[in-house]
Amino acid sequence: MKAAKPIIWNGIIREFQEFLPKVKDDNVVTLREGNTPLIEAVNMEGIFESGLKIFLKYEGLNPTGSFKDRGMTMAVSKAKEDGSHAIICASTGNTSAAAAAYAARGGLRAYVLIPEGKIALGKLSQAMMHGATVIQIQGNFDDALAIVKEVSKTYPVTLVNSINPYRIEGQKTAAFEICNQLGFAPTYHFLPVGNAGNITAYWKGYKEFKEKGIIKTLPKMMGFEAEGAAPIVMGRPVKNPETVASAIRIGNPSSWEAAVKARDESGGAIDMVSDDEIIYAYKLLAREGVFCEPASAASLAGVIKIHKKGIFKNGDMIVCTLTGHGLKDPDTAIKSSEKPVTVPPDLEKVVKVLGFKP
Ligand code: F0G
Repeated sequence: MKAAKPIIWNGIIREFQEFLPKVKDDNVVTLREGNTPLIEAVNMEGIFESGLKIFLKYEGLNPTGSFKDRGMTMAVSKAKEDGSHAIICASTGNTSAAAAAYAARGGLRAYVLIPEGKIALGKLSQAMMHGATVIQIQGNFDDALAIVKEVSKTYPVTLVNSINPYRIEGQKTAAFEICNQLGFAPTYHFLPVGNAGNITAYWKGYKEFKEKGIIKTLPKMMGFEAEGAAPIVMGRPVKNPETVASAIRIGNPSSWEAAVKARDESGGAIDMVSDDEIIYAYKLLAREGVFCEPASAASLAGVIKIHKKGIFKNGDMIVCTLTGHGLKDPDTAIKSSEKPVTVPPDLEKVVKVLGFKP
């Protein structure tokens, strides 16, 4: 018998330690996040001309189902190292799920503030199941963020929203992985923008790899807000943001300036896509066999929008970050799909529905 071949991935803190703030090994709180696949889109003929290569960085395959795990392992490990016993965040859902899971793992308390009735079911169930104290705010994400910032100033709890610099440090590792997976940096990097931490993190990651000589070129950073929640595009905060992509229903992003810097330094763009465009892209991705949540599809919706403007050149290499798993938001998936057919337990009736001749 052949010996079993171990395939071991130690999580982003241990795998990328030379690029990250130091953490004592005993304090590392990890669920072995990272190492997510980069999947080439193969079923998009007819939408894009051949020659355009689109790769999907499927961050929904992180331990809690979103890219937030990369930042959370770093932030919670550092909180632990600093002797903190509790963490707090505001969230549209994914940050709270990751905070709850990593706090549980590390033996810290988690307090999460979420907009009442506006987070997807899967995310709510995660925060509850991992034992976080869940507080529903009768307001939006921006209201919740203002409160947690105040709480963390006065009380002994560590803020783990992306204003916490360790979050950005952890999240930049997705850019490292993409460069390692492709062997170079893409021409364009598309991603959804909500609180604007992730676009900031990716840009930092790409620049660090370039400074080290690991890559020769940098991508253009292409961030996409939802039309009803597009403060950066509008150039002013949005008081009552609204979108089907509840993860990015944010009217006053924390990393606004850093995102604009990433856009300008990279020669990229921050633009917006409508809910219809998001759902269209969400379904196209499902046709690839890749199930992401609606907000994630804003990246591909952005590619379609830019493609229509005729900006891409043959051979351009495009990466879209799919930030969260589709199972996070089963309600939107069911609403966006064909309904199941119900029949009695009868062979003939089933065969008829299948479209075969009985
Ligand atoms: N996609 C998903 C699935 C998200 O959950 C988020 C943010 C984003 C994109 C946008 O990333 O904020 O770095 O620009 N979710 C945060 C949360 C706000 O609370 O889970 P960003």
